Amino acid sequence: MTKNYPREVRIIEVGPRDGLQNEAAQVATEIKLGLIERLMAAGLRTIEATAFVAPKWVPQMADAPAVMAGLPARGDVRFPVLVPNLKGFEAALAAGAREVAVFAAASESFSQRNINCSVAESLERFVPVMSAAQTAGVAVRGYVSCVLGCPYEGEIAPEAVRGVSERLLELGCYEVSLGDTIGVGTAASTARLFDVLLAHIPARRLAGHFHDTYGQALANVLTALEYGIATFDTSVGGLGGCPYAKGATGNVATEDVIYLLNGLGIETGVQLDKLVDAADYIYAALGRAPAGRVARALLAKRNAA
Ligand code: HMG
Ligand code: MG
Repeated sequence: MTKNYPREVRIIEVGPRDGLQNEAAQVATEIKLGLIERLMAAGLRTIEATAFVAPKWVPQMADAPAVMAGLPARGDVRFPVLVPNLKGFEAALAAGAREVAVFAAASESFSQRNINCSVAESLERFVPVMSAAQTAGVAVRGYVSCVLGCPYEGEIAPEAVRGVSERLLELGCYEVSLGDTIGVGTAASTARLFDVLLAHIPARRLAGHFHDTYGQALANVLTALEYGIATFDTSVGGLGGCPYAKGATGNVATEDVIYLLNGLGIETGVQLDKLVDAADYIYAALGRAPAGRVARALLAKRNAA
């Protein structure tokens, strides 16, 4: 069977933000910067660096201005940051951000827990963010959380995801990243989602953001690839979780996705060995072994050599 796989895939590394935001112990800014440097060395060209959110809600991201100030010379590397409102956008801009991401949800209960407002209110909040971003020439990406299930509401209708995604694109987001926040999706539910979305939105405006809580993320990435999706958010070593989705684990590990894509002959520009160095570095700092299977396998092989 001929699959509609893309020839190239763009990887958005979200480890320094999504990956670290849920760590209970504060990770030193220098360690975060050391991670970002290693991710760049592995060939990653888009690295979500931090989040300008309320520190009382997500203390791990309180050093966002310091992370931005310490970023290495950018060259062709993009460092998007998360902003929930105009206050966050202004702080991000002052810190030198050239790209931001706004985030909404396909589930009302999750929206309330995560950003303390309804889905409609969150979209309204983004209007002034979008116009300030346009004035400043800052690119805006959009996220939709809970696209394949919600920790509070259970199943989510693909039509709900479509509504929020279309609104984010209308507001001016260049792309919408579809978040399976709690990693409950399967190949079948992922296919059902794309069957609905792709009837209305071109594949090039969509990205996959699969958490791996139920071990299905790689299957969901493969399904999305078959639908022509060519951008994926991944997290080095499988770092992460969401503070407002208890028990959710990290994003699919970047190395696992690169291994899959290498096997399919799909270009990413990312070097697996150097990625494993980055995973080794951050997990050594956290005092535990990487969650991702490829990093574990390659580190075991190195240690045995
Ligand atoms: P709120 O409490 O409703 O907001 O929070 P508020 O406007 O009443 O402000 C409360 C306090 O926060 C005030 O300070 C504000 O100044 C301050 P105080 O007067 O108490 O000292 N504040 C801010 N400080 C810094 N930066 C800001 C900011 N805004 C207000 N931007 C708010 C509303 C949205 C701010 C809050 O709920 C929040 O920050 N939420 C962020 C939650 C978060 O970061 N979640 C994780 C990221 S989303 C995710 O992981 C999903 C994703 O990966 C995709 C997926 O997997 O599905 C993207
Ligand atoms: Mg996430």
